[in-house]
Amino acid sequence: MSNKISVIGAGTMGSGIAQVAASNSCQVTIVDSFPQALESSQSKLKSILNRLVEKGKMNEDKTQHILANINWTSETEEIADSDLVIEAIVENLEIKQKLFSQMESLVSEDCILATNTSSLSVAGIASACNNQTRIVGIHFFNPVPLMKLVEVIPTEKTDERLVKEVKSILEGWGKTVVTAKDTPGFIVNRVARPFYGEALKIFEDGIADFATIDWAMKEFGGFRMGPFELMDYIGNDINYSATKAVYDGTNHDPRYKPSPTQRKMMDEGLLGRKSGKGYFDYSESAVNPEPKKNEELGREIFNRILVMLINAAADALNGSIATREDIDIAMTTGVNYPKGLLKWADDIGLNIPLSQLKELHSQYGDDRYIASPLLIKKASENSTFYS
Ligand code: NAI
Repeated sequence: MSNKISVIGAGTMGSGIAQVAASNSCQVTIVDSFPQALESSQSKLKSILNRLVEKGKMNEDKTQHILANINWTSETEEIADSDLVIEAIVENLEIKQKLFSQMESLVSEDCILATNTSSLSVAGIASACNNQTRIVGIHFFNPVPLMKLVEVIPTEKTDERLVKEVKSILEGWGKTVVTAKDTPGFIVNRVARPFYGEALKIFEDGIADFATIDWAMKEFGGFRMGPFELMDYIGNDINYSATKAVYDGTNHDPRYKPSPTQRKMMDEGLLGRKSGKGYFDYSESAVNPEPKKNEELGREIFNRILVMLINAAADALNGSIATREDIDIAMTTGVNYPKGLLKWADDIGLNIPLSQLKELHSQYGDDRYIASPLLIKKASENSTFYS
């Protein structure tokens, strides 16, 4: 079992990964080229652990054990005796390729090399290495210690046995692991796009305002957060880039077309909570608009976003991006959807989302509403995704 873990990049994700690995008794080396990043990672972890002790969720001994398991360093050479290295540096292909090539020259032959990229191709990063069979994507979610889901992404060249080993390490850390194909957005970041994109389209079509759309998704769909409050939480810049990466990576599939409204928000610096203002105002004296609680409108909004999400899930299954079970688990665990989308579609009856998509397509003439071939096939057979 892998016990020596290295993490490269001591930012938000790398620090979270190191915390989880160290909490599970791994010896962790965390590397960052910027000393301030190392200092900040270390002091943030100390304050997280102190808070856990204050709340009675962890004892002092355990915190000491976790801290003693982590070595913060700026020397990449210190990864040499690792069993597994997880890269979590800046999201830039050339920089990651350069690092992978360096990592390959430092570690032993049976060390697994992983990337936590959220939008780049794992194979693209791996292409910098001579031995690509030991390279895999391990996509954690933020905040790493709290989010159970991890997407594991083998490339065409990744050794099958290694994928099993990676899964068992992650499960040993208490994670829920799904396997995704090396395609833009993997499972969650691809299938979730319409939650934001269709909500923005509904706003752009003048059907409802932000607060009403959020209310509809929570009230009728049971989602924990509405699309606009969630985009404000994630940041409009990050959310826009995720959409753009999927749109570019799918040869401009109209289903994933970025929204001009979101682009404008990003350009104007209206990023959401982190900038103080996004779709909603987060300043102390702010008074945000109330939703217009019209049941008929609310149900229409919820249905429209749900059928687009179901269509994206069907499309992911059609493209063999993951199994039906993993697609559903990814959405309920990675973004807390109240139900897996494929199961949800089965429960509604597949003819219903299909006819709603056809109606939207004829009403708007927009190809974003074209139904996935798998949804059409299953509905025409009166079948279900799980049969
Ligand atoms: P971050 O900006 O918080 O941290 C990146 C760290 O890498 C910084 O401390 C930087 O000093 C360091 N760094 C940059 N180049 C380096 C190099 N060549 N060698 C060593 N250290 C280097 O970034 P964050 O948010 O932690 O993201 C890291 C990776 O994880 C990215 O690939 C991102 O796409 C991915 N990711 C991010 C998620 C998020 O919600 N923030 C979620 C899932 C994946």
